[in-house]
Amino acid sequence: MSGGWKSCPKPPKKRRRTPYDEIVELCNLPPEIKELLPRRWERYGDVVILKLPKELTSYEREVGRLYAEVLGANLVLVDEGGVRGLTRCPVVRVIYGEESEAFHKENRLIYNFDPIRIMFSSGNIDERIYVAELLKGSGDRRWVVWDLFAGIGYFSLPAGREVKGGAVVSVEINPLAYYYLIKNLVFNEITDRTIPVLGDNSKVIVPGTADLTISGYFVEEGWEEHVARVCSLLKPEGGLILYHFLAKKKELELRLAMLLKRFSRELLNRNLDVAEHRCRRVKSYAPLVYHYVLEVLARPTKGQKPSGEDWASLYK
Ligand SMILES: C[S@@+](CC[C@H](N)C(=O)[O-])C[C@H]1O[C@@H](n2cnc3c(N)ncnc32)[C@H](O)[C@@H]1O
Repeated sequence: MSGGWKSCPKPPKKRRRTPYDEIVELCNLPPEIKELLPRRWERYGDVVILKLPKELTSYEREVGRLYAEVLGANLVLVDEGGVRGLTRCPVVRVIYGEESEAFHKENRLIYNFDPIRIMFSSGNIDERIYVAELLKGSGDRRWVVWDLFAGIGYFSLPAGREVKGGAVVSVEINPLAYYYLIKNLVFNEITDRTIPVLGDNSKVIVPGTADLTISGYFVEEGWEEHVARVCSLLKPEGGLILYHFLAKKKELELRLAMLLKRFSRELLNRNLDVAEHRCRRVKSYAPLVYHYVLEVLARPTKGQKPSGEDWASLYK
């Protein structure tokens, strides 16, 4: 008889019980309805946002209570799809809890907002981090950043945290978003380097003052004038533009060509050139439509003596 230890077959790995499993377990609805319970949700602090198929509408109170209980949320909203109007007001409905503010933590920053009246796009997280990293990695450069569609500080907060010895000007037209912007500048302790402005960016910009301009809104109507405004903001020694836009994948090349032509023309009016450009896809926005960012590095035209710092160092 051979002695020694026999190797035992490994017990099958136990899958960890997820909050979704718990929701399904606790749910008393008919099985065909249970199957439709959302497996994913957005979470901003104590607020949960769900997308519900229409078959669940008549059970939504119960569904809201269930998600609140399992996820420990005090407000559950149903996302009816999209955002409304110039101020990008979300289309949501309360299915559980009292109206309350969200305190969302991301990248060591706090975003406070009213989730019923103010949008937050979790899909833009990489772009918010990108802005922080860009400024962080830029050495001693004292950036002056203009955030033209500041909202509650989506980009102004990461920029404000990393801007060293420079400043961020945050322009927002909606008084409610502006109210939260100011609160967020205070909560994140960056009021000493941020200048919030309540107003229309087409009226308040100061030409020739920016190292970095962020245009984080999809301007469709009047985009040509908007590009002109964005370019006019840059300092004579040039700078960087982050320009957000929407496009269908198959129309991207054409759209980019049109944008770049416009940027080149407007920059040339200020003796600047498109020295480099690149385009990033941020997220899927709608069926076949994507959210992109065009990054334009502008430098003085050849023959012009570059004044100020050398922007090339950014793109090493
Ligand atoms: C909600 S943000 C867009 C998304 C955001 N960049 C993100 O990352 O999630 C757009 C903001 O621009 C503001 N806005 C729209 N038109 C404006 C204008 N002409 N001047 C200043 N702010 C404007 C809206 O009120 C809104 O708060």
